[in-house]
Amino acid sequence: MNVKPDFSKNANMATTAPAFLSVWDMHAYYGESYIVQGINFNVHEGEILALLGRNGAGKTSTLRSIARTGSPMVTQGEIWLDHKPLHLMTSYEAATAGLGLVPEDRRIIPGLTVEENLQLAQIAPPIGWSIERLYDLFPRLGERRKQEGVTLSGGEQQMLAIARALARDIKVLLLDEPYEGLAPVIVDEIEKTLIHIKEQGMTTIIVEQNAVRALELADRAVILDTGGIVFDGTASEVLENHELRAEYLAI
Ligand SMILES: Nc1ncnc2c1ncn2[C@@H]1O[C@H](COP(=O)(O)OP(=O)(O)OP(=O)(O)O)[C@@H](O)[C@H]1O
Ligand SMILES: [Mg+2]
Repeated sequence: MNVKPDFSKNANMATTAPAFLSVWDMHAYYGESYIVQGINFNVHEGEILALLGRNGAGKTSTLRSIARTGSPMVTQGEIWLDHKPLHLMTSYEAATAGLGLVPEDRRIIPGLTVEENLQLAQIAPPIGWSIERLYDLFPRLGERRKQEGVTLSGGEQQMLAIARALARDIKVLLLDEPYEGLAPVIVDEIEKTLIHIKEQGMTTIIVEQNAVRALELADRAVILDTGGIVFDGTASEVLENHELRAEYLAI
């Protein structure tokens, strides 16, 4: 991996399939704190990648760096999505180019119904899934379309946050701890929808404390530790590697 690939053509680093999202030598800081310390990884079109690691390893910071949120500040590196240079874009431009970040705190907008939260996402193009199709995906949201979004249960709010990302025409779904605080039966329900979304061709990065659940869903896994990558391989390799699980995932 010493020679930088030409991402504007056909990025092709460790594997034979062309990468859809490529993160190359990315470094990021919060003020003086050096957090993302030169990471490289690829995500292939249509796959689910689990981004794992202990508390404070830098998972959220990595997602926020890719989504160009400005905090942390990315000081070096390249991020390419479907041959487009995200590292040259603002967060708004990156969203328009196809990034859909579902942050950990879900950010449901107070004072708006479920439906209004979805309509707001479609106020400007590019528009993704129709609202009726989103209600087919999450029938609970359809049943509660007139309810204020912030009064939904935690699981329903997570569904709304995912639906709102899909309401825009995105190419990659970035999920930060979608299962946090949810009962196993609700996790099952959300997992089923993530599988359905994948079957429609979506590419997904999932950050999860519940590493086993994420690995069961994912095709591949990247494990972070203190801002660097310590593993990049298949999800089943992680599930089968007891030392890796114990050392970095405490499972
Ligand atoms: N806004 C911030 N300002 C300064 N440091 C921050 C900020 N946000 C996160 N950090 C630090 O960056 C490091 C990585 O944090 P990050 O939130 O990316 O980790 P994480 O892997 O998502 O952890 P968790 O599993 O707890 O969510 C931590 O040491 C954290 O204290
Ligand atoms: Mg986090």
